[in-house]
Amino acid sequence: MLRVRDLTISYGGEPVLERAELAVEDGRFVSLVGPSGSGKSSLLRAVIGLQRPLAGTVESGLGHSDIGILFQDDALLPWKTARDNVALGLVFHGSERRRALAQASLWLDRLGLGGLADRYPRHLSGGQRKRVALAQVLALTPKLLLMDEPFASLDAIVRARIIQEVAALVEREGISVLLVTHDLEEAISLSDTVYLLSRGPRARIIHEYSVTIPRPRDPVRARTHPAFAALYDKLWSDLSREVDDAGSPKAVA
Ligand SMILES: Nc1ncnc2c1ncn2[C@@H]1O[C@H](COP(=O)(O)OP(=O)(O)OP(=O)(O)O)[C@@H](O)[C@H]1O
Ligand SMILES: [Mg+2]
Repeated sequence: MLRVRDLTISYGGEPVLERAELAVEDGRFVSLVGPSGSGKSSLLRAVIGLQRPLAGTVESGLGHSDIGILFQDDALLPWKTARDNVALGLVFHGSERRRALAQASLWLDRLGLGGLADRYPRHLSGGQRKRVALAQVLALTPKLLLMDEPFASLDAIVRARIIQEVAALVEREGISVLLVTHDLEEAISLSDTVYLLSRGPRARIIHEYSVTIPRPRDPVRARTHPAFAALYDKLWSDLSREVDDAGSPKAVA
């Protein structure tokens, strides 16, 4: 579905991300974790052609309309309501307007925003805007879904429900996913494969972990599976090593 080969991204001088290799097989859920500034968002931008790499290739064989992307900062149009924002993508992809609005309402309902469909983005909280942006991309049922910290800024309960909703949808529809997250629990409980980046600059993919928790899988219940704890410990210590080497913020005495 997606193959990134030997990808190097540089902003002017030194590469931020170097020689990245990763693959998202058909219908697989893949996560990318790594220290802040290691080039995760840059990699996603390169995948959709918004960022020209210094070297390397991205192969997907997909058209633009097959790829859904949820950026780290939501990009809702401020002069359109939540419903109109969600409908916009559908209309853009050829849906008739009335049908698009009905679909948009349905997606907002699913993400717990049914009562807020007529609000403008500035009248929504950060987490609510994030959910509108998520509705916008899910409504298009892309073949490949790229998400950059989509569940950040949600409270614990809403977050768990949204994650379950998204996991069920991608399993049901066979959507392939590349998720960027700082949350190791989220990465493990949702994924088939987790990639770990070293700290930047010149960040590299330093580990690839397979998640053996069986599917179909409820990501909340997956946390109690024995394979979860073992992998969590490993990922935690591998990631801590990367962050500690960089000199993490000192505790205030
Ligand atoms: N347009 C740009 N011009 C110059 N430098 C940039 C640009 N975009 C990102 N960078 C730098 O490239 C590095 C990687 O940025 P990127 O946003 O890809 O990191 P990230 O892994 O997504 O971080 P975070 O986890 O904080 O979101 C950072 O050091 C950042 O400052
Ligand atoms: Mg980022």
